[in-house]
Amino acid sequence: MCGIVGYIGPKPVVPVIVEGLRRLEYRGYDSAGIAVAGNSAGLELRRAPGKLVNLEAVIAANPISGTFGIGHTRWATHGRPTEENAHPHRDCTGSLVVVHNGIVENYLALKHELTARGHIFVTETDTEIIAHLIEQELADAAKNGKQNNGRHSERSEEPPHFANDATNIPLEEAVRRTVHRLTGAFAIGVLSAHEPNKLVAARMGPPAVIGLGDGEFFLASDVPGILHHTRNIHFLADGELAVLTPHGVTLTDFDGHPLHLKIQRIQWDPIQAEKAGYKHFMLKEINEQPRAIRDTTLGRISLDTGKVFLDNLQITEQEFKQATQISIAACGTSWHAGLAGKFMIERLARLPVDVDYASEYRYRDPISDPAAIGLLITQSGETADTIAAQRELIAKGSKTLAICNVVGSAVTREAQGTITTNAGPEIGVASTKAFTAQLTALFVLALHLAQVRGTITADQSLRLVDELSKVPSKVEDVLRSVDLQCQELAKVFHTANDFLFLGRGIHYPIALEGALKLKEISYIHAEGYPAGEMKHGPNALIDETLPVVTIATKDPNDPSSVLKYEKTLSNIQEVTARSGRVIAIAIEGDEEIKHLVEHTIQIPQAPELLLPILEVVPLQLLAYHIAVRRGCDVDQPRNLAKSVTVE
Ligand code: F6R
Repeated sequence: MCGIVGYIGPKPVVPVIVEGLRRLEYRGYDSAGIAVAGNSAGLELRRAPGKLVNLEAVIAANPISGTFGIGHTRWATHGRPTEENAHPHRDCTGSLVVVHNGIVENYLALKHELTARGHIFVTETDTEIIAHLIEQELADAAKNGKQNNGRHSERSEEPPHFANDATNIPLEEAVRRTVHRLTGAFAIGVLSAHEPNKLVAARMGPPAVIGLGDGEFFLASDVPGILHHTRNIHFLADGELAVLTPHGVTLTDFDGHPLHLKIQRIQWDPIQAEKAGYKHFMLKEINEQPRAIRDTTLGRISLDTGKVFLDNLQITEQEFKQATQISIAACGTSWHAGLAGKFMIERLARLPVDVDYASEYRYRDPISDPAAIGLLITQSGETADTIAAQRELIAKGSKTLAICNVVGSAVTREAQGTITTNAGPEIGVASTKAFTAQLTALFVLALHLAQVRGTITADQSLRLVDELSKVPSKVEDVLRSVDLQCQELAKVFHTANDFLFLGRGIHYPIALEGALKLKEISYIHAEGYPAGEMKHGPNALIDETLPVVTIATKDPNDPSSVLKYEKTLSNIQEVTARSGRVIAIAIEGDEEIKHLVEHTIQIPQAPELLLPILEVVPLQLLAYHIAVRRGCDVDQPRNLAKSVTVE
């Protein structure tokens, strides 16, 4: 989604903002713009459709400078991705600008009202109305101020834009009055040429962070945009408004009541948000998975006792014991993790689990028992649908737990506890390391639930914890052994029009994830199916052009896993009998499967519930290499955004 960077400080403003926007490119965007003020030229604006290089070219051709400014990368919602629709947007005077992430739902009604009052709109966007609303608030305040001074305003009939420089309320007060009029979701940054060295920011919905440096202050829509300048971050909460000046940051609610900044020290290393020699962030992040998994178990498992520790939860062991259900809500890849988590929790803790698309949850009037525990799975912690599902769960009386990669994000603030996935910042739009870290966190949670509910023995715990600790090095083995093979497979299959991904049981969510990775970055149509469903319809698709990626792994020590594997072999034969081209994911040493299929990718053996973490790695690499061969923008696929902060 849109990126915002604002800066006040001694450094040259334009490079700080442009560099910040570059570091937020992963969020996805289709135009960019910047406004700076504070020098004799007044407020200056540069915008361009397309990527940041276009904006840089515009700035190079027509340089600007100032002492404070804001920039924006726009992911189009209202209006096409053109130069005029790019942010920042101006009021009628051109002396006040707004950048915005989110959607103003009542913008049409507001636009009619403002048009009737003389405002002239020059764009198709919802954002522009915010600039005009602020302008109007300033004008109204100026007018009332004059009337209160006993001078009947001769200018009261003048168009509002002539009154902007005669304000008698500060910019932040006008912003406060404005946000009360907006419905929908917004994170905004506002500056006015009439109030030098001041940035105003407000949030209701989409994320925004304030960075506190040494004599310099930042606004951004996400931490990586400013992390190379400061690690001291205040995550703006819904209903908060911040005023940034060269002397510091003041915080209030939307009614002007003072609030305290809650500064968090971000531990992420800024280097983690760089490509580190890899061609793409996605490839780097795929290769970071061993560390992400290891860090997600760190301090949470004891290899001596098999015990699992989940700290800082406001959900007691008693509540876990008495829980009637776990209600999972998540989106996209995180939803796939939730589906796999259902198998882990139900099998180990014998506790029923429901998994919903967060975007559907609140609209189905869910029947939820207050003794059910809500579980939100989200990489960003800022996904609008997931936040809405969490609020629905809370409204139904449930406690909520988050599995999240961003400490301090919206979901974690509202949850009664968070299991942090310590994957580090994920920049590639297609989620990889966050997914395997989520699977790891879910396994840890399933073990914890099983231990407090007494559904597994100490010996079983010990064995599973030991197996979990071996997963990072097994993922390292997979990365080493399958990358070349995935490159070769990409050579063969990158021209396919469709792909099928099949799996059974806990492997089915991994089939879904393999299909999602492929479609989002290579734009090849792909579907994931439970292997046993093929004969109920999808078999009709099979012909000699269709690659069918089938997850056919097993834990030889687990009879139910072996049974599923045997059923999957039958499904493979149904595909090959119809000339479908099978790529099987199988465990090392499985010679039988090699005779049945065209291609086999082997992964190390592991317990059934941990196999998904290993299986997904070749699927990520296959999608990656196919997308690269097709010349796709791997890190920023078309039409997608990293953090989906609108419904
Ligand atoms: C796909 C992907 C998305 C996200 C989804 C939820 O690769 O990244 O499907 O998983 O938008 O995002 P979070 O996990 O941030 O809530």
